[in-house]
Amino acid sequence: MLKGRSLIEPGNFSLEEMDGLFCLAEKLEKEETYLRDSCRGKLLATLFFEPSTRTRLSFEAAMQRLGGSCLGFADPGSSSASKGESLADTIRMAASYADAIVMRNPKEGAALLASRYSPVPVINAGDGGHHHPTQTLTDLLTIRRLRGNIENLTVGYCGDLKFGRTVHSLAKALSRYKNIKMLFISPEELVVPEYITRMLQKQNIEFTETRSLEEAMPHLDVLYMTRVQRERFFNEEDYIRLKDIYVLNKEKMDMGKNDLIILHPLPRVNEISVEVDADPRAAYFKQARYGMYVRMALLSSILGVV
Ligand code: CP
Repeated sequence: MLKGRSLIEPGNFSLEEMDGLFCLAEKLEKEETYLRDSCRGKLLATLFFEPSTRTRLSFEAAMQRLGGSCLGFADPGSSSASKGESLADTIRMAASYADAIVMRNPKEGAALLASRYSPVPVINAGDGGHHHPTQTLTDLLTIRRLRGNIENLTVGYCGDLKFGRTVHSLAKALSRYKNIKMLFISPEELVVPEYITRMLQKQNIEFTETRSLEEAMPHLDVLYMTRVQRERFFNEEDYIRLKDIYVLNKEKMDMGKNDLIILHPLPRVNEISVEVDADPRAAYFKQARYGMYVRMALLSSILGVV
């Protein structure tokens, strides 16, 4: 039962609970009218202390497709956080108006803190470079839709693996599935954090760290590209030096398997050439749409209307 539960990081839900969400998302995708109006009278607060296109809009679309309504802000400058109000007080206010809260915040741990002050469920829409669990639900649903299951995969993560919260959440979630191997492809400065590699070692998950996307390409079933995140760098020179270090183009795609799946949480900058968009293996725009269905499944479950 997910009713009343918060989602702060992928481990909060069991595999069975996630499987239930994927089945529900697939039903919602197939049957446009299923659960329509089930959330009538319910309110979702979307509190975005950092910019977003997909996560905020897909949550708002999800809530409205379920018949519910949204309130909130897309820019903390328009909220009383800009006057110095604490996160705890902002959350107390939002929780007194809404039935659930979706929050993105630049500080690691902010969503967990929010959940401790909130009497209504809190969904982490990204806390700094830490976790982004609903992106992970989106990623897993996409793999499942395109392959039929989430097992026996070699998954490559490429780009900014240090600050990439979507990578941290996906690696953690995938480590719970059968026969998953991982390749972490990044420059030395942006390697995946040690807490992730320690967690994989503890679970006996096979993984390799490499600098070469070309070497990794032929081995991969899924390639998860990520953007080098300007907003997390302290130094503009380092960002400029590293930003275009990996560019997935047609030449590199030719090195990949025929049934390779290319994922990207988006937004992309230069790391996937637009020429790749027409390749049937490019799944990142489908992935963004699946995100809306899985968020419909999540909202209807935590609000207890299904
Ligand atoms: N994938 C993702 O989190 O995109 P946004 O930053 O646009 O929400």
